[in-house]
Amino acid sequence: MSLQYWQQVYQNLGAKPSLQDDYLCPLLRQHSGRALDIGCGLGQDSWLLRQLGFEVISSDFSAEALALGIQQGFIDQPLQADLRQLGAMLAPRSFDLLLANLSLHYFEREQMAAQILPSLFALLKPGGQFVGCFNSLDDTNYGADRADADGYYRDDYAGEARLKVFYSEPQLRTLFEPYGQCQINASSTERFGRRKSVYLLSLELKV
Ligand SMILES: C[S@@+](CC[C@H](N)C(=O)[O-])C[C@H]1O[C@@H](n2cnc3c(N)ncnc32)[C@H](O)[C@@H]1O
Repeated sequence: MSLQYWQQVYQNLGAKPSLQDDYLCPLLRQHSGRALDIGCGLGQDSWLLRQLGFEVISSDFSAEALALGIQQGFIDQPLQADLRQLGAMLAPRSFDLLLANLSLHYFEREQMAAQILPSLFALLKPGGQFVGCFNSLDDTNYGADRADADGYYRDDYAGEARLKVFYSEPQLRTLFEPYGQCQINASSTERFGRRKSVYLLSLELKV
């Protein structure tokens, strides 16, 4: 989905949302070092990681989101960037943790496999951890019932084609197992007042 879409989401977001994502905490293998929050939005997860002891770079392509996150005290090191460019902007092997909480489902799986994941994993130190949260094919409250056989839901926003990808566990394994052994759990969370079905994925980058 486009930058224009996300700028509008954040422009129209009123009150400070509650911190919803502490279900990520049990997945974390360590609580120190450098973390990159990819598609951080307002940065609630960045805040959580900072409380746990990480130094956190909070990246998003929406300046609006980053500004709100700074204002609300969630973000202290913002990086405005398209996540597809992060690999070229940051030093290789410089992060202990990559977190992508519902920010990697806007891309076809071929692009994820060929470009996005290689460039992101190049930022991770060997033995570093990746934690991600992904739309599940069970996520019917958020469009999974309208997805095609590949789990792709395409619609139109202000004349622009948008893609939202819903994942099965085997599809996640195919994408991520080349980087390390994956722990994947089906879970659900509350988003904007509705139940959202997700997969939580954690892996340690092969040395
Ligand atoms: C569903 S929100 C999740 C935000 C946050 N991680 C959370 O859990 O609340 C998706 C976020 O990804 C960002 N995003 C989407 N596509 C992006 C891209 N190509 N590059 C950088 N950020 C992107 C959006 O601006 C938005 O903040």
